[in-house]
Amino acid sequence: MKVTQSRTLVVPILKYFFLSLFLSLPLLLLFYSLHNHPPIDRQSTDLRIRPGYASYDAYIQRQLNKTLNPKLRQIWTTRDWERKIHVFSNLFHDLKKKRLLSNQSKALCIGARVGQEVEALRRVGVSHSVGIDLVPYPPLVVKGDFHHQPFDDETFDFEFSNVFDHALFPDKFVGEIERTLKAGGVCVLHVAVSRRSDKYSANDLYSVKPLEKLFKRSEMVHVRKVDGFGLDTEVAFRKKTVIQRS
Ligand SMILES: *[C@@H]1O[C@H](CO)[C@@H](O)[C@H](O)[C@H]1NC(C)=O
Ligand SMILES: *[C@@H]1O[C@H](CO)[C@@H](O)[C@H](O)[C@H]1NC(C)=O
Repeated sequence: MKVTQSRTLVVPILKYFFLSLFLSLPLLLLFYSLHNHPPIDRQSTDLRIRPGYASYDAYIQRQLNKTLNPKLRQIWTTRDWERKIHVFSNLFHDLKKKRLLSNQSKALCIGARVGQEVEALRRVGVSHSVGIDLVPYPPLVVKGDFHHQPFDDETFDFEFSNVFDHALFPDKFVGEIERTLKAGGVCVLHVAVSRRSDKYSANDLYSVKPLEKLFKRSEMVHVRKVDGFGLDTEVAFRKKTVIQRS
């Protein structure tokens, strides 16, 4: 008699216990996932997009403001001209020695302004070289937005840029590089790590980790310190030759 009475009590209690546990499961899972995957992970804290652009057009206008600044353009084409070409020539010469670049490479410089790096490439013997920027500077630089490169897929063997910090959409910036690079092609970026760059920058980079993540279809070749006009780090990637399924 006693046994059956306690049984009749325990069974419904257990039923309700398991039912309530079952119903609260989604909530428990939510707490668990929030706790284990905080919304801001290390990757995104090492790459921060600067706030304050109301639209893509506002962003482009601000970038144009620097590119079109007459005082800056004057300096770029006179005082800076030979000095920068000299530094870039040494860089490209070194990249040729490392077999990341050759005279036969079809090369692109992204955000080239007045094209000192394009001129340097041509002087070291890489004759098929061109630059893109929002404002053209013929014959070295053609008009092009690095978020939407005006080139077909797999056009270039080599791409260089020192304006990663100006990208409002770093994933598009890198996606376009990987789209227009041939398989086995090389991309070399000069970036500033752990230091604020100029007031026209659209993002801040605190390590090279986010770059490794953004270059989905490439392998990192090297990272080294450079003295690149305020940019301290060179990162080189090579686009993979086989499509890897993930
Ligand atoms: C561009 O810069 C100048 C000088 O700093 C400023 O007066 C002007 O309002 C700016 N224009 C735009 C479109 O941001
Ligand atoms: C590449 O071009 C440069 C400049 O024209 C020349 O001096 C050099 O010999 C060339 N290198 C090769 C491997 O053809």
